[in-house]
Amino acid sequence: MKITICGGGNAAHALAGILGAHEAHQVYVYAPFSDEARRWQQGMDSHGGLLVVYDNKSIHSRTIVVSADPIKVVPGSQLVLLALPAFAHEQTLQAIAPFLDEGVWVGALPARSGFDWCAREVLRELDNSVVLFGLQTLPWACRITHYGREVSILGTKKQVDLAVWPSIQETEIVATLEDLLDIPLNPIANFLSLTLAGTGQLIHPGIMFGLFHHWDGTPYPTAPLFYHGTNDETANILESLSAEVQTIRAALENQFPTIDLSAVHPLGEWVRRSYAKDIMDPSSLRNCFVTNRSYAGLKAPMQPTDDGLVPDLHARYLSEDIPFGLVVTRGIAELISVNTPTMDKVIHWAQKCLGKKFLKAGKLQGQDIANSRAPQRYGYQQLSHFIVDQPLVYSET
Ligand code: NAI
Repeated sequence: MKITICGGGNAAHALAGILGAHEAHQVYVYAPFSDEARRWQQGMDSHGGLLVVYDNKSIHSRTIVVSADPIKVVPGSQLVLLALPAFAHEQTLQAIAPFLDEGVWVGALPARSGFDWCAREVLRELDNSVVLFGLQTLPWACRITHYGREVSILGTKKQVDLAVWPSIQETEIVATLEDLLDIPLNPIANFLSLTLAGTGQLIHPGIMFGLFHHWDGTPYPTAPLFYHGTNDETANILESLSAEVQTIRAALENQFPTIDLSAVHPLGEWVRRSYAKDIMDPSSLRNCFVTNRSYAGLKAPMQPTDDGLVPDLHARYLSEDIPFGLVVTRGIAELISVNTPTMDKVIHWAQKCLGKKFLKAGKLQGQDIANSRAPQRYGYQQLSHFIVDQPLVYSET
């Protein structure tokens, strides 16, 4: 199988190294940003390939072709993987669209919210033949140790949720990806569940808000702990955000009784299940964060200044998780007429930090909606535009 990976960061390196070790596949990388393609090639040339280093083993990829020119890597691919932050999905899809073959499988790891809407809009000329899938998260925590030649896998998820469109392709995609990634995948009913269930959209902006919404501009001597810095006020924000998602879920189930949103779990349930062995005291949501060993030592994103550290209010916890997470969910809430006062409070604060306008006069009608994946951005003004009219997305028919 010819596989093309899009991206030049940690996730793309991990994927390229792991897939590149499979004898049966030819792996290509599309890395158009900055001079990443050249640096990646240089890195591989200096050590005869790409090394993936785990705790207890390492694997060496076979030849990988890396290019900044999509025509050199994309044509003929059966599988295309976007291993990029969500804000780079649209421009990447636009660049590769002219070179995609009919029947190609295109997926994002992680998908974040609204990936299917974005991909279907960009790839609309291929709409009936492209198969889309999205993973809820990247299967690994990974970091490049030497650009182009070595990447470390710091942790591997036990299982990852995935959505496939059209769902008739699910069995084949799951079997192929499980074999390639060596990770158990849990297929969920639809992309809408993936959109609503993303926990990063709650945790990251919620904790950023909790840590910094009272910040008075005084630099910090050291970076505050991120997850372990969760106090009662932040935990209440997280509880409220999660409760609002559950209200949206209930309203959707009420209006569309056949829809399956069972994968949209409350945050507390998700964190207790995902980190069962790592949480020392699961008695409250706050304690699930502050006694969670997996989160130990992880710091808030900060920028150095001459006088100390200041919060990085453009970090991906806001620049990715707001327009490609919370704003998307807020857009669905608006369509189903669910009030979301906590989401609104967090989005108002975050959009100020980012210098963007999503919410305006209580509605998602700010100018920067055009750079988000809110349903309104795709012209969906009613839920029926993307739930009833496209039954393949949301049912097993
Ligand atoms: P990274 O920062 O290492 O790589 C980002 C890459 O995206 C760049 O190297 C570049 O090739 C590309 N890119 C395209 N357009 C860009 C733009 N406009 N600005 C910046 N970069 C642009 O990121 P990483 O670690 O590979 O993460 C990719 C995605 O996976 C992100 O959504 C991240 O949140 C997610 N993720 C990563 C994990 C990890 O351990 N690395 C774990 C869980 C999720």
